[in-house]
Order: sequence, then structure tokens, then C-alpha cells
Amino acid sequence: MHPTSIICGGLLVVAVAICGCDHPAGVAASIAAAPAIRTPVGPVPGPTTNPPRMANPLGGNPAAIVEGRRLFVRMNCSGCHGGRAGGGMGPSLRDADWLYGDTDAQIFSSIAEGRAHGMPAWGTRLPDDQLWKLVAYIKSMRTPDEPDPPS
Ligand code: HEC
Repeated sequence: MHPTSIICGGLLVVAVAICGCDHPAGVAASIAAAPAIRTPVGPVPGPTTNPPRMANPLGGNPAAIVEGRRLFVRMNCSGCHGGRAGGGMGPSLRDADWLYGDTDAQIFSSIAEGRAHGMPAWGTRLPDDQLWKLVAYIKSMRTPDEPDPPS
């Protein structure tokens, strides 16, 4: 092998390694899957315009709904919204009333970007696929697909 090609090969490995550090696997995956509905957030959280209508890529997926239920408990969404999201310090997510809209994209946006009156933004903490799983779980409420429904 020509010595130059060995050097080039080495540089390539270094470049790949640097890219690897910049984007840990989960983040890289979420960048690849990121829907184009991020909006700039000012001093008050929450977007000022409605996001484009985008359907949940995991909507209706039974495994995603179950995983969303787990995330809802693990991320302590239930701490504010109640154990089965029936309401607490935060509003009910299982009734038919929505402050910020009930489309997949609007619910995604509520979770990812936060809302003005006490809803934290999760978009920097959870990859998009987990946000979509939470959306899938929320949309399953009051349907026969809901895992672990209130008794
Ligand atoms: C610190 C308390 C708190 C936590 C934790 C929290 N929320 Fe919220 N959430 C709120 C409050 C308060 C609102 C209402 C915000 C407003 O009125 O501007 C809200 C609003 C929402 C909305 C919009 C509801 C509507 O009617 O449009 C969704 C969806 C939502 N939260 C989902 C979640 C999910 C999923 C999690 C966990 C990842 C979570 N929340 C964690 C307090 C919380």
C-alpha cells in the first residue's frame, strides 16, 4: 500500500471519530428524524404560531403507545398532570379540552417547546422518537388502545 493512502485512511478515521463525539448515537438519530416544526423560543416559552400539520410517525403503534406510557411515568409528567393524566397542577390531558390544540404536531410542540404557564420544554432532553411516543400515548387516552387505563 502506498504510504499516502495509509495517512489518508488515518485522517478519515479521526474525522469520523470527531463526528462521533459531536453527535452521540441518540442525538444523531433524532437529528435525522427531526420534523421541521421547531420555532425560535423567546423569553416566554412556546411558539407563537401553530406548527405545520404533521402526523405522528408512531401514531397508533401499540409498542410506541406502551413506551409512551412508561415515559410519561418515568419523566414524571404524571407529577404535574396526574397519574393517568387526569389533571393536577397541570391540565388534564385526557379530557376533550385542549389549551394548545389536539393535533399530533400541536401536542408534540407543547411537549418539545413547553408552554407559557408552567409546562417545561422537553425537546432538549428527549429525542424526537420519545416525544412522538408520548404523543402516541396521549392520543390513545380514552380509546381501547390506552395501556394501563384508570380503573
Ligand atoms: C412542572 C409541571 C409539569 C410537568 C413536569 C409536565 N407538565 Fe405538561 N403542562 C404543565 C402545565 C402547567 C401546562 C399548561 C401550560 C399552559 O397553560 O400554558 C402543561 C401543558 C401540557 C400540554 C398541553 C395541554 C393542552 O391542553 O394543550 C401537554 C400536551 C403536556 N403538558 C404534556 C406533558 C408531558 C408529556 C410531560 C412529560 C414529558 C409534561 N407535560 C410534564 C405542567 C407540567
